[in-house]
Amino acid sequence: MACSGPDTEGTYEGLVAKTWRHSTGSIDSGPTLLREFVRYATLAPNSHNTQPWRFRIEPNRITVMPDFSRRCPAVDPDDHHLFVSLGCASENLIRAAKAHGLRAHVSMEGMKEEGEIQIDFEPVSPSESPLFRAIPRRQCTRAEYDGRAVPSEQLALLEATGQSESVAVQVFTDKRDLDRILEYVVAGNSAQMNDEAFITELKDWVRFSESTVVRHRDGLFSASSGNPTLPNWLGKFLFDFAFTEDAENDKYGRQIRSSAGVIAFVSERDDRERWVEVGRCYQRFALQATAFGLCHAHINQAVEVPEVRAQLSDYLGIGHRRPDLLVRFATVPSCPNRCAARSIRCLPDCALVRDTSAC
Ligand SMILES: Cc1cc2nc3c(=O)[nH]c(=O)nc-3n(C[C@H](O)[C@H](O)[C@H](O)COP(=O)(O)O)c2cc1C
Repeated sequence: MACSGPDTEGTYEGLVAKTWRHSTGSIDSGPTLLREFVRYATLAPNSHNTQPWRFRIEPNRITVMPDFSRRCPAVDPDDHHLFVSLGCASENLIRAAKAHGLRAHVSMEGMKEEGEIQIDFEPVSPSESPLFRAIPRRQCTRAEYDGRAVPSEQLALLEATGQSESVAVQVFTDKRDLDRILEYVVAGNSAQMNDEAFITELKDWVRFSESTVVRHRDGLFSASSGNPTLPNWLGKFLFDFAFTEDAENDKYGRQIRSSAGVIAFVSERDDRERWVEVGRCYQRFALQATAFGLCHAHINQAVEVPEVRAQLSDYLGIGHRRPDLLVRFATVPSCPNRCAARSIRCLPDCALVRDTSAC
């Protein structure tokens, strides 16, 4: 797949097309194949798009490792999101291996000390799942949705795909539940908006212009939250004026009320191994949603602020367990202003994006 149109080498559009794609050409030999699995892993969602991972490639083995130089101490003081992100990357890697005829064996022995996930491979017959095919199309869509219900068969499969032995999910579609969840999101958001360390850290990861995205190749592109692109210096200057508690809370109100539902991921224990497992479960959910043509976005404010998280746990009735992630979802969004409303990667003529006839 490739973007149509003029030569985009070195541009934002060119980078998008080069990044968000399936493998092309021959990649059947050992090290090339393993490097390609790593490329698929790096297409995973990750907190603040810090890409907090490193990979060690050895014959028949890939080790996924944390990059603590990219941790976010304000929003993620215990590295929960960092290890969830490693789980998302591992899930992509495992799906890519399966599609190319290798079954993955995952070992967490190095998790406690080094935070490492070791993945060894065994030959099997290749099988391309819909989840694998969805990898380059998956994205977080921070838009208002269209409020339409998701069919119950799809909900049932999403629920089944998003859980495992040690990770449970709860799916909410009732308006009263969404209103209650919104209250926790607003409480979390208000706490974060009044936390200077949180704002400083967030601002540091926001990229306001395409050229800054191309230069850094990480962080949160302002357009992916529906905001205009600006020269980076101007964006940083205006950020404090435009990014206010009330405006953000209103936005979350509209976003949650226009969603078909919210899914909460809850692990049985609060440790690194379970956080990785949450990431793998969430990533399967995200890929299955993408395969169905659904969109989704995080509303984690309610799980990031400890006092609000405790209140949310009571509401979910999960006792001492930790609610790990909160994600809203819906059918394809109505598209008030194309790219900005849909995604960082929704470029008008790009064959990579999903069917634009819904716009
Ligand atoms: C553990 C985790 C936590 C996240 N928390 C949030 C969040 O609170 N708000 C949000 O808008 N996006 C959140 N995201 C989404 C990331 O910002 C997103 O994955 C990243 O910017 C890359 O964009 P993409 O998923 O569209 O490829 C989270 C992702 C992960 C894996």
